[in-house]
Amino acid sequence: MTTPSIPPAVTPPASPEAQPALHFWDAYWDLRVKECPCDVHFIQWLDANRITDSTIYHFGTGGHHVVGIECADPKRRNAVLGITAAPQEYETFVKLAIERPDVLRHYNAVFGDIYLLNERLLPAFDVVTLFHLCEFRGEKNDAYGALTDLDVANLLTDKTRPGGHILFYPGSFAFDRADHSAKDVIAQWERGRDVERAGTFETLLVYRKRS
Ligand SMILES: C[S@@+](CC[C@H](N)C(=O)[O-])C[C@H]1O[C@@H](n2cnc3c(N)ncnc32)[C@H](O)[C@@H]1O
Repeated sequence: MTTPSIPPAVTPPASPEAQPALHFWDAYWDLRVKECPCDVHFIQWLDANRITDSTIYHFGTGGHHVVGIECADPKRRNAVLGITAAPQEYETFVKLAIERPDVLRHYNAVFGDIYLLNERLLPAFDVVTLFHLCEFRGEKNDAYGALTDLDVANLLTDKTRPGGHILFYPGSFAFDRADHSAKDVIAQWERGRDVERAGTFETLLVYRKRS
């Protein structure tokens, strides 16, 4: 009689060739207000609308982390969850966190791919920024079954409180391009979610979630 073989407790990992790697951003973006003023305009929008003590999701922190730093200011006290796909930008977050616990209290950045967002890891938000929608997603994200731009917009809208805001950046290179534009994704998103266009502010396009 042969003894039945015992299956291994842990499935061995697939070979590295079989696992598509994360599509991360091998770059670093410092604050370049002339080229890309969205983050600075966002802070101005918060102040113009007296948004304080709120919860914000911010797509694309940059290596400068200006949204997190400014939101942590005692006159705002907005809690920000930011995401960066650039290891270099995450490094500056770690440095910031060590040097500025006063900022860390209000601002957490995660390293990751927004197209792998897991709704169970997210709280409810008052404000969501999607300034870089459609800029970075491609076949490399498809390789690991990542969410689409529309999925991300829908998921974060579902996590936005009624009356909360979702902001886009028409200055993005991906906003109005011929193929896979943020504008087209937004048009589709508007049809599927109870949102209304609230207006524009400087370079930003602002929507409000109705219910
Ligand atoms: C051009 S930078 C702009 C940064 C900042 N919002 C600004 O305007 O100064 C784009 C940002 O998007 C982030 N990013 C790119 N692909 C991403 C992804 N798949 N998931 C999350 N963040 C991503 C980059 O790490 C970077 O912080």
